[in-house]
Amino acid sequence: MEHTANHLAALNFYIDAGVDEVIGIDPVDRFAESQAPAPEKASSTPPRPARTSVAAPAPAGPRGETQAEASAKALAAAADDLEALRVAMEGFDLCPLKKTAANTVFGAGNPAADIMLVGEAPGADEDRQGQPFVGVSGQLLDRMLASIGLNRDKSYITNMLAWRPPGNRKPTPEETTMCLPFIRRHIELVGPKVLVFVGGTAATTLLDSRDGITRMRGRWFDYPAGNQTAGAIISAMPIFHPAYLLRQPALKRLAWIDLLAIKARLEDIS
Ligand code: URA
Repeated sequence: MEHTANHLAALNFYIDAGVDEVIGIDPVDRFAESQAPAPEKASSTPPRPARTSVAAPAPAGPRGETQAEASAKALAAAADDLEALRVAMEGFDLCPLKKTAANTVFGAGNPAADIMLVGEAPGADEDRQGQPFVGVSGQLLDRMLASIGLNRDKSYITNMLAWRPPGNRKPTPEETTMCLPFIRRHIELVGPKVLVFVGGTAATTLLDSRDGITRMRGRWFDYPAGNQTAGAIISAMPIFHPAYLLRQPALKRLAWIDLLAIKARLEDIS
């Protein structure tokens, strides 16, 4: 009995500390690992690639570009349609987030829609179901879309990152940069008339801005449509993330103004 109580107390301690994933059965002593002698160099058999189901990782690119970035870039560029992009991302094993995620959350909705929304990264519900924005903040996003006559059949929704950061932490700049070629190609393949960046991560990364979401929201930006349509731009507006609106309901007033501007722009172009 006391034994069980101790286990429960330990579990509660982990939950309070933010642990919400079990990624292995046996504990790993990283201190012992770091003190172990360095492995023998240059074995005659070359290491096996992590995965062979998709194109082999590209060689490291220009100075400063990691092998993972170069590989993501090559895979994204080689994807001729959304299905090919999905397969490429499902086979990409160089993003550490993928190791702890249950699913690759690619995108949902209507890829022929005029409007595409890009959020940050899947949360726990999205990771479980393999679909973007299906948790509590997704339900608010659905209500926001409905308020301007949209739904999932009249929009396409995806995220900057296809894999859930453990514990819903913010993605690191390395993770975001590594996955950038995928989301850029995703936007290029969908080719929406209007883009909505849901939250600061998507807005600042895709618009390469240092401004915060409070300064960026409600303004129209020109997003370069992609290499294959040189010079073309897509109208893009950042909005507050619904998770933020759930914590700061007073800001829904500003979100409503932004939604009306998006509705007007969609009416103008149709
Ligand atoms: N937050 C996001 O940014 N995306 C999701 O899919 C869910 C929550």
